Amino acid sequence: MGWVQAPCHQETHLGATAGDLLLRDARGDFSAWKGQAQCVYLDPPFLTGEDYYLRMRVGEKGWETGKNPLILPAYSDRYDSRADYLAMLRAALENAKMLLNETGSFFLHLDSRAAAHARLLCDEIFGESNFVNEIIWAYQTGGRSMKRFSSKHDVILFYRKSRRHYFNITAVPLPRSEIRSNHMRRCVDENGRSYRTIQSGGKTYTYYDDEPVYPGDVWADVSHLQQKDPQRTGYDTQKPMALLNRIILCSTRPGDLVCDLFCGSGTTAAAAAHNGRRYLAADISMAALNVCRKRLLHTALTLTAPTGCPDATLNAEFIPGIAFHDAHLIRYDPGPDRPVTGLDAVDQWSVGFYDDRGVFHAQANAARRRQSPALPEMLQLPQLRGTPAILIADIYGNRSVWLQEEA
Ligand SMILES: C[S@@+](CC[C@H](N)C(=O)[O-])C[C@H]1O[C@@H](n2cnc3c(N)ncnc32)[C@H](O)[C@@H]1O
Repeated sequence: MGWVQAPCHQETHLGATAGDLLLRDARGDFSAWKGQAQCVYLDPPFLTGEDYYLRMRVGEKGWETGKNPLILPAYSDRYDSRADYLAMLRAALENAKMLLNETGSFFLHLDSRAAAHARLLCDEIFGESNFVNEIIWAYQTGGRSMKRFSSKHDVILFYRKSRRHYFNITAVPLPRSEIRSNHMRRCVDENGRSYRTIQSGGKTYTYYDDEPVYPGDVWADVSHLQQKDPQRTGYDTQKPMALLNRIILCSTRPGDLVCDLFCGSGTTAAAAAHNGRRYLAADISMAALNVCRKRLLHTALTLTAPTGCPDATLNAEFIPGIAFHDAHLIRYDPGPDRPVTGLDAVDQWSVGFYDDRGVFHAQANAARRRQSPALPEMLQLPQLRGTPAILIADIYGNRSVWLQEEA
């Protein structure tokens, strides 16, 4: 029996933490989530004038060695003018404000190129009195210049929706090793507790070593992703989980909704899910969404984005068993003009059921990862009512949903 593609605009997954992933412009319609977000973090293009890429590992060998990745376009950070860029940002900021509930927090991540302009925009949209912090994220990675001081920080503007905003700094204590207190005098009190003390402006400040210490507005303890960092997805401009963990933990409670309308590789959504928060993540790049999909496959993900790869072909079989069908992926070809063919062209695949609203409900998933470079060729599909279907996400960024042809 042959296989044909079916039109599909949404896929759903089984998992513990619920989240939505959308192929949608940050300026688009998010009114379905109006007033529901506890935290919105935006990491938009920085106005660099450059193009960015996804380094996609190919096949079992490619995943084992990291060699010869496919370089796929991810997104462009080129705007006709700064005014164009700021118009795009303004619409996204207005959406961010609309999404937040009254106790919510907003974080905007930029660098020195656009931060000053964005600060004025945020003052206008959120109100100057709702400005909370300008966080400096300082890191050591990247090149060094001899012509000026090298740029070694990003700026994260933090605004609240209203005076009722929720903020819990005790959720983000610093490990003691991060605290630089060598300039203070070390003492021990009558109970044997050690502390450090310093005099400044006629006052004496005392800090007990066994008391927690919390971050200030300069974050130098979170390092950028190193070249061989296991977190790396291959998506340019990916941010570290530690940064998003801090933002999410101090501004939300378990079960709250965290939104990111420029989600890229999905770091915010992954950190939200990791910390038991729900997520809403959107991006205009399908390359980005496929990376996110893989990071979020363990969650109750709903991915809304059309599928289809007109020239692709699939060969697979369902082998009937007791309570389960064994789905066997035999071959996939993305179509002519694609140098990589066969199962090497498959990055992720799922089995599930296709419903008459054009939704694919995944029951089991397989994906290539650093820890498991080989793609499992068999997946089990429970024998439930519905039309069995297979979803392929290939290395070129295509997703396609397949049904068996009627005999
Ligand atoms: C700096 S990257 C985000 C990186 C992300 N924080 C991560 O950790 O991977 C910016 C993202 O914004 C997306 N983007 C650019 N313009 C957009 C728009 N108008 N609406 C939604 N996403 C957009 C790009 O595709 C890119 O993935």
